[in-house]
Amino acid sequence: MAKTTSVTGVILLLFLSPSSVFCFVSSESDDPPPTPAPWPHQFHSILFMNYSGALQLIDLWYDWPNGRNFNIMRDQLGGLLYDLEWNNGTSFVYTLDESKKCRTAQLEVGILRPNWLDGARYLGQEYFDGFLCNVWEKVEFIWYYEDVVTKRPVHWVFYTGRSAHVMSFEVGAALEDEKWQAPVYCFARKGEDEPQLRTQSAIAERGLRSLVGFVDTVS
Ligand SMILES: *[C@@H]1O[C@H](CO)[C@@H](O)[C@H](O)[C@H]1NC(C)=O
Ligand SMILES: *[C@@H]1O[C@H](CO)[C@@H](O)[C@H](O)[C@H]1NC(C)=O
Repeated sequence: MAKTTSVTGVILLLFLSPSSVFCFVSSESDDPPPTPAPWPHQFHSILFMNYSGALQLIDLWYDWPNGRNFNIMRDQLGGLLYDLEWNNGTSFVYTLDESKKCRTAQLEVGILRPNWLDGARYLGQEYFDGFLCNVWEKVEFIWYYEDVVTKRPVHWVFYTGRSAHVMSFEVGAALEDEKWQAPVYCFARKGEDEPQLRTQSAIAERGLRSLVGFVDTVS
């Protein structure tokens, strides 16, 4: 039964990511499959992102007790883009340079919960970025790789192919309160005169938040 599931997972992965090479090792024991570690309630992570060769660094500040999540994104040789998400569903995506762009969005769901990986389907073990990882997929939307020994995330990849390599993972690290303030022009502008501010990455992040959050809410 468990083996059938793993094989299905491998086929699915090959189908979705034909350019990658996967070699899963099926678990031969009767133990229940491992489950992903819940996210720590506060952490800071530096993520190296790759979306079809477009590279990006993200400073991720996850802050569950204060109901907020921050992605500070830098495109290669580009500027910084701030994606600040609140648990009430409001998010602000803005620049802090002279362009003074800001876009707000209101979602039905809040930030990812620490246990957002609950119910993920175990696919087996695989070496990724040089680390032996347990691998899961959730709602065929995200594939998640966690270090077998330290239980830290190593990598995740969205169904779009956008991937994150976890470069650092500081449990308990928290960004100062004053950094969590969207700039005044996020509140001044209304409606159609908002400068367009769309990046694939910001949309993908919100996609994750919406879909995973939605699935968690309804299940
Ligand atoms: C980024 O991903 C593409 C495949 O989409 C790959 O060819 C390329 O080598 C990757 N670049 C880096 C720096 O990992
Ligand atoms: C959600 O919280 C943020 C931060 O406190 C606030 O700026 C925003 O207006 C709130 N959104 C709603 C819909 O209440």
